[in-house]
Amino acid sequence: MCGIVGYIGPKSIESVLLVGLQKLEYRGYDSAGMAVLNGDELATRKAVGKIIELEKQLKNQPILGSAGIAHTRWATHGEPSMTNAHPHLSGHRDIAVVHNGIFENYAKLKAELIDDGHVFLSETDTEVAPHLMEKYVHEGFSTEEAFVRMLKRVEGQYAVAAISEKDSKKIYFARKGSPLIIAKGNNEYLIASDIPAVVPIAHEAIYLEEEQWGYISSSGVSIFTLGGEPVPPKWQPVAFKEEDVDKGDFEYLMLKEIYEQPDVFERILKERLDDTFIHFPELKFGKEYLARVGRILIQACGTSLNAGMIGRMYLEQFAHISAETDYSSEWRYRNPLASGDSLVVGISQSGETADTLAGLREAKAKFMRVLSFLNNINSTMARESDAMISLMAGPEIGVASTKAFTAQVLNLLFFSLYVGSIKWLMPAEERRTVLDEIRALPDKMRTILKSHERIKEIAEFLKDKNDTIFLGRTYNYPSALEGALKLKEISYIHASGYAGGEFKHGPLALVSQNVPVVIIAPQGEIRTKMISNLKEAQSRGGKIISIITEGDEEIKRESDFYVEIPPCQESISPLLVAVPLQLLAYYTAIARGCDVDRPRNLAKSVTVE
Ligand code: F6R
Repeated sequence: MCGIVGYIGPKSIESVLLVGLQKLEYRGYDSAGMAVLNGDELATRKAVGKIIELEKQLKNQPILGSAGIAHTRWATHGEPSMTNAHPHLSGHRDIAVVHNGIFENYAKLKAELIDDGHVFLSETDTEVAPHLMEKYVHEGFSTEEAFVRMLKRVEGQYAVAAISEKDSKKIYFARKGSPLIIAKGNNEYLIASDIPAVVPIAHEAIYLEEEQWGYISSSGVSIFTLGGEPVPPKWQPVAFKEEDVDKGDFEYLMLKEIYEQPDVFERILKERLDDTFIHFPELKFGKEYLARVGRILIQACGTSLNAGMIGRMYLEQFAHISAETDYSSEWRYRNPLASGDSLVVGISQSGETADTLAGLREAKAKFMRVLSFLNNINSTMARESDAMISLMAGPEIGVASTKAFTAQVLNLLFFSLYVGSIKWLMPAEERRTVLDEIRALPDKMRTILKSHERIKEIAEFLKDKNDTIFLGRTYNYPSALEGALKLKEISYIHASGYAGGEFKHGPLALVSQNVPVVIIAPQGEIRTKMISNLKEAQSRGGKIISIITEGDEEIKRESDFYVEIPPCQESISPLLVAVPLQLLAYYTAIARGCDVDRPRNLAKSVTVE
């Protein structure tokens, strides 16, 4: 949701900023731009569209210098256009600002500045920042003072960076609500919205805390609180390697991340499971507390909520804890009632999603304890939660979540079994069977990945459809929601997921020859019920795509297309079902010529509400 990057150092500023933007492109790709200081002269370049457009422009009009800031935009205020693209400049074009977030009081500030004679060019909220700085500089303040005064005037959320011709050896930065990291290489310093942008250069990074600001220069970094107190820099090693954030030999990052899932699972298994025990070394809650939790309220957004819906069933089944799920954006505006034994669980890949974060803050304001399942363990949610569980999926950059989803489900499963074991709920034999099933998952996932040719054939059939229906029950009802979400977000085919039992209560009216139905029917208790759904759809002319357990001849005969998954317990099956559904969405999007890693109108890490 907008990415910013800044660099000061000996390398080509233009190249470093461009590479940084490319690595942050998943955060938005409506327009991009950069501002560079060459001595004390400021130059800018902007382009509408993806970063490649900016790259083309820079080939024709290179930009040289010693420090610069850049931005890739996901439009909030103002359509994607050259004037709305960042960086935004002061009236005298000597101060440049890039911003991720929203200045909520921009209209009031803009009116005040216009009254003072400032002329605005864009429709963005961001443009007030360079004008405010300019106003304070004219009043006699230094660039540094003007920057801090500007921060004190804006309301809302921001990760922001500014450069000025009058103070050309520094890049100013600040954060409130949107993530920002500071990184160092060899006599060079960077700022960025996320770690992939600095991985090629940096050895160490600082995760800036809320309401801190500072500046980088060629000799170091200085950080302060908004009240002006100096903050000692807390450097941490940059744990990621370049190959972690690159698409490697794959055509798209999403495909790479789908194929990474067996390895991610092996990593999680190695960390979490020995012969008999499950481990959560990072979990700050003690066993006595966990044994007493009576109710869990799960809140998350999108794919993470779908994972939470499966987790809810695990908590009920394996930990005997009553659990509920809700969209964070709904949960926080209800009046959720919680007793002393209630725990609020947030689930988030990025740890920065504004709605989920607001929900967790709401829970804390109501004195509820908060546990977060997070892939980014340096995120705002990690800092603000009472306890955290690391998803260990590795960086997920593809906008459509894949490996983070399955890692969320697996960690929720482990957590439920862990709490169940604290309470001694499960007979040893049953527990051993479930753990053996989990151990077998990486190889079973590898088997499914080999069905890609079959899935490509289904994608060829699906690519010309306008609507699809996904049906599942119990553990695989959330799989149906997730399969539908994946398909619509990257292929733009309308898709809806329903609980199989609800099908005849309305959605059945949609079925026709042109509306295929994906039936998720692995072996288990609900299989026969899913066959009833299949028949209901088939008798109305609907074409059937089924996800079944290997060798299920009965459903194969009834289906127009099918994909098999290896046999497993019903409760574990969502972890396998996810893989063909991801591939189906992926290959359908490819067959329709869509840019899978940059789905239109979307961005990863939704840091605005
Ligand atoms: C869909 C997708 C989104 C995210 C949602 C929450 O593929 O990725 O629905 O799941 O925006 O994001 P996180 O998990 O970062 O809170």
